Amino acid sequence: MIISPSLLACDFGNIQKEVEMLNQSEADWIHIDVMDGVFVPNISFGFPVLEAVRKHTSKVLDVHLMVQDCSPYIEAFKKAGADWLTVHYEACTHLHRTLTQIRDCGMKAGIALNPHTPISVILPLVSEVDLVLIMSVNPGFGGQKFIPNAINRVQELAQLREKTNASFLIEVDGGVTMDNAQALKSAGADALVAGSFVFHSPQPSTTITALKNC
Ligand code: DX5
Ligand code: ZN
Repeated sequence: MIISPSLLACDFGNIQKEVEMLNQSEADWIHIDVMDGVFVPNISFGFPVLEAVRKHTSKVLDVHLMVQDCSPYIEAFKKAGADWLTVHYEACTHLHRTLTQIRDCGMKAGIALNPHTPISVILPLVSEVDLVLIMSVNPGFGGQKFIPNAINRVQELAQLREKTNASFLIEVDGGVTMDNAQALKSAGADALVAGSFVFHSPQPSTTITALKNC
């Protein structure tokens, strides 16, 4: 299982220390949530924070854009240090073009699906995408309650992947804890994002190991 702790829940007054903790941990990726205040009703952070994190880690930076029509910014995300760039199906008018742009810049391309979006929308794009992110909360905030139907959605997506002979990874984001990690794994998830559950636990690196071995 790939574990991608979400920095949104870290102590921003000590971001370097938090990243160093992740460097020493079994985290595979670092999840970075960029929110624009338009696509989601919240604003998080942008390029300067991403660049700062990049300077302190060689872990894979898994960047989740909650940004309306992000096309003009794709190259800038590559320059700032993103390795994987995931955009929302609901926020991209020209999604095929956006995914192509991401790959042309040398990044892996992901599509995120809100809880209400049918899984089948990715069918025309299965060969253009390296990762599909199933949102298990409505995006915009950390610390929300896991929506149990996400487990069925992961299962449906894993079946679609098999049927189409596709090879994208399945990632789940929102309210992930030890209470649902195992079920998500059995359903077909390859990567789990966890914010509050990791950073608000007494021993974040032990929590990461526990999730990794779920
Ligand atoms: C929510 C973000 C998540 C968030 C997860 O919009 O995409 O990545 O940080 O946080 P938790 O794990 O606390 O739900
Ligand atoms: Zn996220």
